[in-house]
Amino acid sequence: MQIMRHPPVKTSLEPSNHPYLTGPWTPLHEEVDVPELRVIEGAIPADIDGIYLRNTENQVHQPLGRHHPFDGDAMIHQVNISGGKASYRNRFVRTHCFEAEQIAGRSLWGGLMDPWGTSVRPGFGAHGGLKDTGSTDIIVHAGTAYATLYQCGEAWMLDPVTLGSRGKAPWVPLDGISAHPKVDEATGEMMFFNYSKHAPFMHYGVVDRTGALVHYVPVPLPGPRLPHDMAITPNWSILNDMPLFWDEELLGRNIHAARLHEGVPTRFALIPRHGQPEDIRWFEAAPTYVLHWTNAWEEGDEVILEGYHQAKPMPDPLEEMGRYSHMMAYVDEHSFQSRLHRWRFNLKTGETREERLSEKIVEFGMINPAYAMHKSRYVWSTTTRPGWFLFNGYVRHDTRTGEEQVYRLPEGVYASESPMIPRKGSTAEDDGYLVTFLIDENTGTSECAILDASDITKGPICRLALPHKICSGTHSVWVEQEQLRKDAAFHRERLVSA
Ligand SMILES: [Fe+2]
Repeated sequence: MQIMRHPPVKTSLEPSNHPYLTGPWTPLHEEVDVPELRVIEGAIPADIDGIYLRNTENQVHQPLGRHHPFDGDAMIHQVNISGGKASYRNRFVRTHCFEAEQIAGRSLWGGLMDPWGTSVRPGFGAHGGLKDTGSTDIIVHAGTAYATLYQCGEAWMLDPVTLGSRGKAPWVPLDGISAHPKVDEATGEMMFFNYSKHAPFMHYGVVDRTGALVHYVPVPLPGPRLPHDMAITPNWSILNDMPLFWDEELLGRNIHAARLHEGVPTRFALIPRHGQPEDIRWFEAAPTYVLHWTNAWEEGDEVILEGYHQAKPMPDPLEEMGRYSHMMAYVDEHSFQSRLHRWRFNLKTGETREERLSEKIVEFGMINPAYAMHKSRYVWSTTTRPGWFLFNGYVRHDTRTGEEQVYRLPEGVYASESPMIPRKGSTAEDDGYLVTFLIDENTGTSECAILDASDITKGPICRLALPHKICSGTHSVWVEQEQLRKDAAFHRERLVSA
């Protein structure tokens, strides 16, 4: 395989036995281009035509304090599949903090687990002391890829095809944007939220297809909260206020300790897409914490929301992990016990009804994107290795019948979040593929793998060799070439008419 290597980045990272700086979480510092990936097994389906992007977290410099897996710098990995062939490239996201640390040759910011004052430069995020890495999420809106941080920061823009940097988005408000903005391909709009430690504690906004901030309103909360994801339907955006948030007394001393506040319900804010604060409909539900929603839609008088309910949002520490016992539990699905769940908000009565959809401990799910914001039946979730933030398999849920398919990767092999790609010309909701990157600790290699979404039990139907072993991370996205062509035509037309 032809590999074009880019000039190396500066790194000061020293060898360690940190659980999230070793094994499948060993940071990668190399940036390459591979014009054509070698097929190890099977054939690239001819009815796939798009780009898979994954954001991974790669610590570049020796941490100033205790490292958390979410502290690493963003690296975007791309597999571009078209005409039965696939290319690969990967790039660090050139955030201002990444560039500053490249110049300094060392870490300038502390991480999530470090005491206030660890950073030697003014910090970012709702926390206020973190590095703005953009290393949590990756989405594509109107032809631009946006890398974002869970704690709120800038929206770092990249060309989804070349991965070239387009800088930071000019429309991002002072409080930044959280990870997990949501795109409505039908209208070309992107909905987002942010949160902070100062009143009103949350905002909600809409960016149109031209990249203009067209709507931005406060969503007043009782205090600082830690929402992670939002959901959208054609008419509503759904934000949340959950009882897992920073202890207010400790916060006064700049100690950021998340705890479950007993007796405080979960609240959902349903705001019309272009609504004002007074239009918000609040719904209460049983206390929980939810990292990710899978889908939401409207049905009669109800708005339906699906996602992963946590039975134990404040998990017991994993004592065997010593000084990392709390951190290890907070990133372990088996500790916080996340299960697929449905909330129904009745707009007439104001009532919320809830139902559990599966007993499996899962998270990081995907649906057929053609069914986003509409009633959907299938969810493809990931399973994790107990005790670890490492995806070791999949569950395909049929939420209508309750039937589940399970596929477990071989021991020591870990997946990425795996978007569902509808097959070209498909009519059935589960007719398509899952695409993922695999990290194989047995061989020290990585692959891109494609699975049949209708029958995941077969395992990968196509495996492509990657040029290096990648580091694990969090989110990913699939974008159709057809969508990129439409977005490019839209921008060309705007330029011509201007
Ligand atoms: Fe997330």
